[in-house]
This record gives sequence, C-alpha cells and structure tokens, in this order.
Amino acid sequence: MKKNKFYITTPIYYVNDKPHIGHAYTTILADVLSRYHRAEGDEVFFLTGLDEHGQKVQQAAEARQLSPQEHCDDLAPRFLGLWEKLEIQYDDFIRTTQKRHIAVVQQALQQVYDAGDVYADEYEGWYSVAEERFITETEKDSGSFRDIKKLKERNWFFRMGKYQKKLIDHIHEHPGFIQPGQRRNEVLGFLRQPLGDLCISRPKARMGWGIDLPFDKDYVTYVWFDALLNYITGPGYLADQKSFKKWWPASVHLIGKDILTTHAVYWPTMLFALGLPLPETIFAHGWWLMGKTKISKSLGNIVNPLDLIDEYGVDSVRYYLMREMVLGQDANFTMESFIKRYNSDLANDFGNLLNRVSGLIGKNFDGFVPEHGKMTDEEDHIKEEAVRLDPKVKKSVSEMRLDGAMEDILQLIRQVNKYLEYQAPWKVAKTDLGRAGTILYTATEALRICAVHLFPVMPFKCKAVLDILDNAGKGTQWGGLKKGAKLKSHEALFPRLEVPKQ
Ligand code: MSP
Repeated sequence: MKKNKFYITTPIYYVNDKPHIGHAYTTILADVLSRYHRAEGDEVFFLTGLDEHGQKVQQAAEARQLSPQEHCDDLAPRFLGLWEKLEIQYDDFIRTTQKRHIAVVQQALQQVYDAGDVYADEYEGWYSVAEERFITETEKDSGSFRDIKKLKERNWFFRMGKYQKKLIDHIHEHPGFIQPGQRRNEVLGFLRQPLGDLCISRPKARMGWGIDLPFDKDYVTYVWFDALLNYITGPGYLADQKSFKKWWPASVHLIGKDILTTHAVYWPTMLFALGLPLPETIFAHGWWLMGKTKISKSLGNIVNPLDLIDEYGVDSVRYYLMREMVLGQDANFTMESFIKRYNSDLANDFGNLLNRVSGLIGKNFDGFVPEHGKMTDEEDHIKEEAVRLDPKVKKSVSEMRLDGAMEDILQLIRQVNKYLEYQAPWKVAKTDLGRAGTILYTATEALRICAVHLFPVMPFKCKAVLDILDNAGKGTQWGGLKKGAKLKSHEALFPRLEVPKQ
C-alpha cells in the first residue's frame, strides 16, 4: 500500500521571551496530528523552530545586555526543554540563524531579484515600531497600532501586488487552502483592496539583526520574508533536493489567527515568485483567552496553564487543550474548567473504567484476562461501537475536529461504564463465572481500543494503560486483547482533583 505523506509545520516562535501557552498549544496540536497520521501508517515530517531575527528579538537582547545571538542561544534550550516535557516528537527544529536557513533566504532573495520582482524605492509613510512594518493610512486610523512614527527611508520592495489576481484565483480554485472558511473569507475580503508591494528590507543603520540582502549589504531582510522561508529550508530546499521534492508542498501550516495575512498573502506570493507550489492548507486556530484577554507572557498572579504540567501531569494538560478548543474558535482557559474536565472525562470515565476492569479481573480471575463465551446483543453492540470508532476518529482528525474525536472516544468509554453497571459482572460472577468473563473481556477490549485511540493525545497515560493490559500492540481492531494475559497492578491513573475553594 502506498504511504501518504504528511508534512506539518508550526509557526516558528519569536525568542523574545520564554515560551507560553500560545506556543505550547500549536506545538501540541501539531504533535497530536502527526501522531494520528503516523498511527495510520503515513510518513510524517513535523517541523517546528524559532524565529530569531528582527527588531523584537534585538530589543529583548538589548534589555538583557546580551548580543542577539547570545540571547537566542540562551532561550532556545527553554523551548527545546518544554517540547521534551510536553512529549513533542518533532522531526526537525529549525533556527533562522542557522547557516542552512541563511543560505536559503539569500538564494531566494537573489532569485526574485534576478527575476525583476524586487526594486529599490524611497518610501515615506507611517511605521509601526511594535509591528515592525509600514502601515497604511487606514490601518493608522484604526487605532489598533502602537508606537507609530512617520518614517522616510530608501528600501527594497517585493512586487507582491503583481501576484494578487493569481492568489485570488488560487483561493477560489482550492477551497481547502485557507481554513476554516471564515478565515478564507477574511483573506478574500482583504484581497478586495489593491495589494501593495511588500517592503522586504531594513537599513542596517536602524535595525541590524537580520540576514544580509545579497544584493545590498547596507540592508538586512525583513523578518517575515526571512521567517516564512523556514518552511522550505526544513525539508531541504537547497541542501537536499530529493528530500525537498518528497515533502514540499506542506500538507498543513498550523498558525494562530493573528498571523493569517503573512501566511495567506505574503507567503503564497513569495512562493509564486519562486516558482514553487503552494501549501495544501493553512489552518488558523483561535486564541486561548483568560476572560476576554489573550493569554500571552506571564499574566501576573493569574495561573499560567503551563504550570499545570508539573502539578497535574503533561497528559491531562494535552487532553484539556485538545478537548476544550473547537479548532478555529477562541477558547477560555479557567482553572475551574480544567478541573471539571479532568474529573469528569479522565478520573470518572477513563480512569474509572480501568480501575473497574482491572479490579474485577483481579478479584475473579486472578488478574488473567478471561476468555469470552457467547456474545449477546449487548456485547455485539459494544463491539460495533468500538469498530465504528475507527472511521469516526479518522474523519474528525482529517477535518481538524480534535474536540469531536475526543468526545467520540469518551462517549464509548461512558457507554462501556454504563454497560458494566447494567451487567453487574461482580454479581454475575457469583453464579456464572463464564458469563462474567465475557462481560469483562468485552469491557477490557473496548477500553484497550479507546486507549489506542487516545494515545496521540495522552502518550504517557495510554502507554501505561496498554502496559497494564499487557498489550504492546497498538491496533484498533476488535480482538487485539490477549486472552490469558496477566494484568499488572497499578495505582489510580487519574486521581480525582479537589475543586479549589474560591
Ligand atoms: N515568529 C512569528 C511566526 C513566524 S512563522 C513563519 C510569531 N511568533 S510568536 O511567537 O509571536 O507567535 C507564535 C504563535 O503563537 C502564533 O501563531 C500565535 O497565534 C500563537 N499564540 C500566541 N498567543 C496565543 C494564545 N493566547 N492562544 C493561542 N495561540 C496564540 O508570530
């Protein structure tokens, strides 16, 4: 069978501060999607990394009295450390100060320059220091830009406007290119105005932390023109043609909704100019909010969701983030909703099912998985639901509805718990041990299948469940449970949490 390839990226993160929930969320999401695809047998390339150039990083370094490179070298391990803690299985970690990337940026610039898509011009306009770019009169009047000043400068421009029509056509011809649909409409709305050219240089006299323009050494490259190219550096644009051909175009660029224009307008026009195909999908997710505020750096005395990892374990945080955010919409983080979700789904449903089956098999079968006898309609029903879960989860994952996939799995777990309550194998065992065995086999097999489905989201805990069930095999087919296997004794996987007093 031909394997599908799946190339997924996260944004590369600015190293102006330590990592926060926004960084962690997208990276966990990419990891979960990668793991689902790997489990389906796809070949996966998962790229993440750091955006190390530009004014924000330069300013952050200055504030710490370090050179920008020292500052980046100091912060990079914190991101890597967090990825390790979060169980992120990336395939490549790119830093834009790496030689391989600088070479790609300079080659790309030279290519667009040689093709006549770059020109120098004197430009006077409003410049947002915070956004690091010239803004239009309308943008200025919108009041949403800080640190604005009038700036007159000679700079290099990329003929982005030239590709406007081609981009609009592409968006119309490829409905899945920008997702969800609301973001697609936003981009099409933006493209109703004439698309100007893009200033892609910064004079070194003003901002020197960037990649030199190959055709004018007095300038460095605008940080976004540099950063976006990471997506082709990763798979080997210059270094390894064979690998590049294999992986490009990317299957999904995951991004937050605030960086939609750079990804859905700048990046495709750059790719047009380079003569490269466009990514299949750009998917913009919403924000994690606390109240009405976007969670970003440390929010004073408010709980930092990443601190929850040490207290409640990485898997519960991964589960919460995947379950609570409907992809594309904003989600609200509250300690209360975290504890509620944990207690209901993980402690009461998933953890409880494991405790029940292992306890009952321990008591009635000395811990050995029983044989199943004749299956009644009740067992057949559980089996059917467990078999149906596979296409359901696949569909939800392919449609980027991870909250839906989690819900489907949890529904089966709840159903099995109900089945156990109704069948009461603890009573049945007293008169008909064979029948009790059939019930417990059915419940344990359904639990095993759910654990395999939940594995990409909770790799530690699901591995623990599969170890307890003495089942290293990861298949989701009914019948994978080894009869006669000895269950291992275990602690509660998800001890109930106390709801903190207000
Ligand atoms: N360096 C650029 C990306 C370049 S990609 C070629 C950048 N970096 S960032 O570190 O500022 O932000 C990275 C991502 O974090 C963005 O996708 C942004 O949407 C996301 N988040 C930051 N805060 C967030 C939340 N509170 N919630 C969810 N994601 C948010 O932009």
